[in-house]
Amino acid sequence: VKTSSIPGYTYGSKTLATSPVSLEDLARLESTVLWTDDDVAALRRAGEILGPQADRILDVWYGFVGSHDFLIASFAGADGTANPDYLGAVRARFAQWIVDVCSRDRDQEWLDYQHEIALRHTAAKKNLTDGVSSPASVINLRYIIAFIVPLTATIRPFLAEQAPDADEVEAMYQAWFKSVTITAALWAEPYSPSW
Ligand code: HEM
Repeated sequence: VKTSSIPGYTYGSKTLATSPVSLEDLARLESTVLWTDDDVAALRRAGEILGPQADRILDVWYGFVGSHDFLIASFAGADGTANPDYLGAVRARFAQWIVDVCSRDRDQEWLDYQHEIALRHTAAKKNLTDGVSSPASVINLRYIIAFIVPLTATIRPFLAEQAPDADEVEAMYQAWFKSVTITAALWAEPYSPSW
């Protein structure tokens, strides 16, 4: 995928604000989730399996969101029903996110885009990127946190399908779990004055 062709995907753009989270804060978060060099390697290997399957993974995640009124409400258009254009636009960036989680170095550029995506879940920036007038103006923080579970649990079968053995599945799964947890913790920043 040529990332420049994904509408609204602005990773690395010079126009992005600098994250209020420092690289030191990030390193402390990584230590808190027991991140190791082995996780880096396992995450890279996970990316090789998950990246090509992003579309199938998104089918599972969108199926999950679509089966809960209070979640799909976040994608409502002006008329209150789910806006397929909005869902489609976010889906393309979400697929790229799977690749980015696994393959990008967690440097300043990465941090700045985490900040941007975090804001896109809040009243500050939700709906702006895709120019939608959704009545849902914010994703509640409690769901961002709770999403760690479905975004993690649903990944195991995709890894297991292609990994050689159970230990390898477990290593990649743990690296993914830690990475999603780091992500959710980072994205909590704009919601919380005592982050
Ligand atoms: C946007 C991931 C929680 C609804 C996105 C994007 C990603 C993502 C990758 C697109 C980012 C981009 O613009 O490049 C995640 C992760 C979550 C999470 C990792 C939790 C750990 C949630 C929850 C909901 C939700 C709980 C509620 C259903 C949305 C919506 C957008 C979005 C509506 C589009 C926001 C906009 O208008 O720009 N999410 N998400 N997300 N997500 Fe989430």
